[in-house]
Amino acid sequence: MDQMIVRPGGALQGEIPISGAKNSVLKLMAATVLTPGRFVIRNVPRISDVDWMADSLVALGLVVDWADEHTMTVDATGDITPEAPYHLVEQMRASTALLGALLARCGEARIAMPGGDDFGDRPIDMHLRGLEELGAEIELSHGTIVAKAPRLTGARVVLEYPSVGATENLLLAATRAEGVTVIENAAREPEIADLAAFVNRMGARVVGAGSSTVTITGVDELHSVEHEVIPDRVEAATYLAILGAARGELLLRGARHGDLHLLARKLGDMGMRISPDAAGVWAMATGRPVAVDVATLPYPGIATDYLPMLIALLSVADGTSFATENLFQGRFRYVGELTRMGANIRVEGHHMAVRGVERLSGAPVRAFDIRAGAALVVAAFAAEGETTIHDAHHLDRGYEAMVGRLVAVGADVVGR
Ligand code: EPU
Repeated sequence: MDQMIVRPGGALQGEIPISGAKNSVLKLMAATVLTPGRFVIRNVPRISDVDWMADSLVALGLVVDWADEHTMTVDATGDITPEAPYHLVEQMRASTALLGALLARCGEARIAMPGGDDFGDRPIDMHLRGLEELGAEIELSHGTIVAKAPRLTGARVVLEYPSVGATENLLLAATRAEGVTVIENAAREPEIADLAAFVNRMGARVVGAGSSTVTITGVDELHSVEHEVIPDRVEAATYLAILGAARGELLLRGARHGDLHLLARKLGDMGMRISPDAAGVWAMATGRPVAVDVATLPYPGIATDYLPMLIALLSVADGTSFATENLFQGRFRYVGELTRMGANIRVEGHHMAVRGVERLSGAPVRAFDIRAGAALVVAAFAAEGETTIHDAHHLDRGYEAMVGRLVAVGADVVGR
């Protein structure tokens, strides 16, 4: 999709299915590298990041196929070339998750060093240091991380910050290390618990995933498994924010309220009604949102991935909101696009003052990344007139069939 055109209309009404979590499935796919065998992963979202990760696996020598629309098979039986080239890592940073898995299986890995991206510097120093603490020798040579460890050894690794990617890389590496690894100050995101469930099914011994201390007892052998990906909480959050802007009533089928707890409370403070439902999450928005303050934090805090959508919604709230981005301090490029639509937002360092206006004004705007694109969709529903979002292909990286799902609940949206 190149452009997405939104014409705000009436309230939204109906059901939106929530796909499997992007940030879980990408790591589950990396985990298939750990051992020979044929894996079946269910509830896989059809998004372009999954295609990029599949390309990375194929480059390593694995065979990736689709059993049906949302069921992926990965055959990891053949020989593996432990190398993820630059053009794949550059397309998708999550391929760095291959580092720990390749080291565990092959005793070596060569992964192009990822650069910065649209929300600033994104170092992977904690991943590398942790792997060194497990006994890997790592050097950077001509833009490639070269890691070697004939045998990884369990260790106590204290992360400086609960990094999602570092926790996942270390967890994967430690599954086959000799002895016990303890990751302290681990990230607690639901996607990490899903990864631990996947590798535990494979025969790994991981305890405590989803808490700050994850203990992994290395095992000699793992085997392939079948697994169903957890629902995507960021996709659910996006449709909640769109509902807040468009108003109406939605059931987000398959979403897990527990993963969205603080966000649901924040949206509740803004005037929405959100409840767990046997089939997912039910939500209703009837009036103009009320201004609230918000700060991002690692899980279970309000996720950095939610903030662009929340800012878009707060830009039409009654009152002034103060927002703080604590994770990616350069993740503000979307603000300029919201301003073009009439939002009144002032950025100071990593803080923002959002002075709510009655209505935004539809305009041509540009998506710089997945969540920035999602913020513009939210804004478009809070605007008068038509909005054309350019570079909408960013939305395809993380949202399956967004246009169709919105049309099905009564929105006037076209993708082309
Ligand atoms: N950081 C370091 N050094 C490291 C690792 C991280 O300084 O070695 C810093 C980062 O620069 C950042 C903070 O720590 O300031 C958090 O980074 P983290 O490692 O937790 O994030 P990530 O693993 O790179 C994942 C998601 C992101 C999501 C973040 C935070 C995937 C593929 N990506 O990134 O999702 O924003 O966690 O929750 O899982 C998205 O889906 O659009 C997206 C960007």
